[in-house]
Formats: sequence, C-alpha cells, structure tokens
Amino acid sequence: MKRLLIALFALSIGTVPAKELPVLKPVGDKTLLHVDGAPYLILGGQVMNSSSFDPEWMESAFDRMKAFHINTVAAPISWQAVEPVEGEFDFSLVDSLIKQARARDMRLVLLWFGTWKNARSFYLPEWVKTDMDRFKRMESADGGRLEVISNLCEETNAADTRAFVEFMRHLKKIDGAENTVVMVQIQNEVGLLGDTRDRSALARRAFEEQVPPQLMDQLDKNKQRLTPHLKQVWALPGYKMKGTWSEVFGDGIEADEIFMAWHFARYINRMAEAGEAVYNLPMYVNAWIGQLEIGIPGKYPSGGPVARMMDIWKAGAPTIELMAADIYAFYKLRCEEFSRQDNPLFVSEACALWLGDRWSAPAKAFYTIAEKQGIGFSPFGIDHDHYDADHPIGVAFAALENLKPLIVKHFGTENLRGYFKEDEETENSITIGPYQFNITYQPLLEDCYGLIIRNGENEFIFAGNGARIVFVPANPKDHPGVSITLVEEGSFDAGGEFFRKRLVGGDETIGTAGIKLPAHGYDLSHHRNNMSIQRVRLFLHPPRKEGAAQGTDTTPEF
Ligand code: DGJ
Repeated sequence: MKRLLIALFALSIGTVPAKELPVLKPVGDKTLLHVDGAPYLILGGQVMNSSSFDPEWMESAFDRMKAFHINTVAAPISWQAVEPVEGEFDFSLVDSLIKQARARDMRLVLLWFGTWKNARSFYLPEWVKTDMDRFKRMESADGGRLEVISNLCEETNAADTRAFVEFMRHLKKIDGAENTVVMVQIQNEVGLLGDTRDRSALARRAFEEQVPPQLMDQLDKNKQRLTPHLKQVWALPGYKMKGTWSEVFGDGIEADEIFMAWHFARYINRMAEAGEAVYNLPMYVNAWIGQLEIGIPGKYPSGGPVARMMDIWKAGAPTIELMAADIYAFYKLRCEEFSRQDNPLFVSEACALWLGDRWSAPAKAFYTIAEKQGIGFSPFGIDHDHYDADHPIGVAFAALENLKPLIVKHFGTENLRGYFKEDEETENSITIGPYQFNITYQPLLEDCYGLIIRNGENEFIFAGNGARIVFVPANPKDHPGVSITLVEEGSFDAGGEFFRKRLVGGDETIGTAGIKLPAHGYDLSHHRNNMSIQRVRLFLHPPRKEGAAQGTDTTPEF
C-alpha cells in the first residue's frame, strides 16, 4: 500500500521513482543478485575472447544462447577497442551488444579487458603499448621487460581508470534505465606468471617498504576467519603488526604473492571506486586458479585473486563485490574455497573445452546453484561449435529456469540441495529434515546430477538426470521407515503451479523404495539430454507403540 501511494504521488508530481540498480543482497544466509528489484539467477554463458568484436557472429551466437535458456551473456569489451586514440572513445561495440541482448530479453555481464588479461597485457591500445617509459612493465630478474604492465605504474592505472570511467558513464547513459548490463568484471585473471614477483627497480623498492597499516588493520580485525594459508604465513614470524613484507610475512614466496596481490587489488580498486562513482553496478574480479600447481605462485598468476589471497584482496579492494572463480579442475573443492559469507560464489568460467571437458556444464550448473547456492554459473566458450543445438546445457538451464521461483523461495536455506557425480564417485547421501536421500549414480553415464527442494513438510521436488534415489528416515529411532505416497512428473506453469504430465510408479520408480531420474523403466536410458522434474510426497512412519518389536521398517528394493 505504502509503495502504491509513493508511486501515485510520484506520478502526480510528474516523476517516476528510480528503478533499483542491479545489486547483490543477502537472502537467508546466502546472497543473490537482484535485477529490477527481484532475485535473479545467472544462467550464463561466456563467449570466446574475440566473439564480441564481431557483431555479425554475435547475432547468431545470441540466438543459439537464447535457445539454451541462457539469461545472461558474459562478453568482453576491451580498452584497445574503445580508446584507440588517447581521449577518443568509441563505444559502438558496447551499443551493439546491448541492442542484441535486449532484442532477446537477455542480460549482459561485460568484461573489461584493460591492463591485464590472463596475466599478460594484450588488450591495451597501441598508444599505451608503444610508450614504455610512460606505461611501465614488470621485469624479470635479469632486467628484461615483460609483456605485463606493472601494477605499481601510476600512469597506466590513471589511464585505464579514465577509460573505464568513460565506459561506465556510457553504460549509465544508454542503459541506466533498462539495466541490460547487470555486472561488470574488471580485468581478467590478473597476476604474474613465471616469477613470484615483479623484479623491476620500482617493485623492488616497494617490496622494501612497510606493509600498509590499512592491510595490517584488516588482517588484525579478521584474524579469526583468515584463510588457513594466510593465518599460517602471518603466524610464523609472530603475527607482526609492522614491518616490511618479508618481516611480516617471512622471506619466502608467500610474502611475494601477498605483496603482488595487494598491489593488484589496489590498482583495480581505484578503477572500481571511480567507476562506481559514475554508475553503481556490481563489479567483480576473476581468478586463474591453477590446477596442481596451487601453492607455487608464478606457476599460476602470482597475486591474482585466488582463494588463498582472499583476505588480501578483500582488504585491498573493498569496492569489488566478489572474487569469481574460473574453475577448470577440482570443481567441488574450488566451489567450497570461493564460497564465503563475504564472497558469494560466482563461477564466471568453467568447462575446459580445450581439455576435452565437453559435457559437464549441466551437472556443474545444478551443483553451483542448488548445492553451493551461488549467484550464477557461466561456462566458457558457449558460442563454440561444440555447444550445438543438441547440447544438454539447454535442457539443464530450461529446468533451472522452470524451477527458479522455487529455488529463489528456498535460497539460503537447507531446503535447497544439489549433487553431481565428480570423477569416480558412485554415490552420495543428502539429509533434509527427517529424510535421508541415498543417491546412486548411473554407471554408464558420466554426467549425473540433480537437485532436491523440500517444498512442504513431506513434499519434495527432484530434478536431474542419471541417478536413483532411495528414501530412508534420517533418524530411524524416531521414525522407523518412509513410504512414498505419490510420484508425479511434470513441470511448473507460469503461475508457479505444478503441472502434472503423468503419474509415475512401478518400473519407473524403484518399486516402493525411491525414484529414478529420469523416470524410465529398466535404466536403459543413458542419454545426456534426459531431464525429469518430479514432485514426490513421502510419509514418515510413526514409531511403534511401546512393547511392540522395534526393528527398522524396510521395503524390498529391486
Ligand atoms: C581463461 C580466460 O579467462 C579466458 O578468457 C580464456 O582465455 C580461457 N582461459 C581459455 O580459453
């Protein structure tokens, strides 16, 4: 009522209340992006690096992504493209992306490829690349200049910030009312490869300086919840509150990585602060995590926003909303490392096509959104030929889109769970309230996954592919057994009501013990594109009367 009165008043004086900008907000004990004032799940896809520079290619790519039920396209835009001559800006590529997204009712996440992209400085305008005195580079130990701009170079930081601010100003001008662009990534996978720190004279001098009090204060304030790695590194020299980088963090490679992380964070925070001042969209950074080399900075980009540097980045770049994860290996482990109360999980890239990881996107999407309750999932290279019309990402995103109202309703609670078969896993077990769900994965299918939503005391929604789920009581002493009272397969209609396509039972369930996803008899279907949404009602057996035998109630399984 109050809102209506405000709206009527605004209309009467000829102003319309400003629409809420995209924003990250707490939901339960998690966080969700909100767009147009409503909770939003990023069912995303990131295009290949050069795609957004070809509007004709993007025209067909957008159509293909729309058919996959992708609601948010992540696309790069570069400093090189928008400021080819110093002080002269050309945002035609940005305009074209926005127009193409709007025509299909889709949103965008734009990636600002500026000073750094994948630990190198490629996307700089030519006037930056060719002025090595003004725009300083990092150096190797033998004094050679690297193709990596120094994170201490004031001139480059100022110039990239100016361009970024112009970009944000332009976004506000053309998109401030519609908010097609919902988030902005600053740089891409920053850090230094090949060494633990920059060896230029500028960097060597900075390394001898005192650790900034701003960093020390933040570490001290958050001492109890620092990442185990940082805590250990700081503890060894004795939790010093003052000193040079090696005095405070020891004289090993750990101090080098922290020093680099701090200066990358400060550089990027300056851009974020200036950009936010003109147009306040959520901004984030993304990490090149590395696979087995984690722990050896330089083998993966030293100083980048990897999980073990999270406290340094949070202290150095408070304007950055989150550190996103580009996860190409050890998916479950990395999701865990990047999920923190102050860091909602966003998987900005996943599924290494170049390593043959061609089919796992559906499973990872379900796991990220349902089990880790991340704000979104965006596989990389979504416009590559490999993602053809039959790719199962389409059915997976369609199901998540269909279930979105329920997912959002239970977000941030224990009523929303998910699972997927990683590597050689064969089974999983999930407990929600008084029910335990014993999941076995289909042995002949690689990508088995699903979600479970408790949508009523005894009512559950299951969705997924490649699994059998047996229902048992979580606490047999209180409830010695579980019966299935009803299984229906269908989907949700636009009004949020479950539409039953068919009743399911017999061979299409596991008898009276549980359900099959998909609900096919004989488990003969191993197709990646299968998807089943089932509504199941369960009944918890009451305890036996005193004096009766006290065994566990069972059901014959087959
Ligand atoms: C991670 C980067 O962030 C992407 O831009 C891309 O280069 C992939 N690696 C590899 O294709």
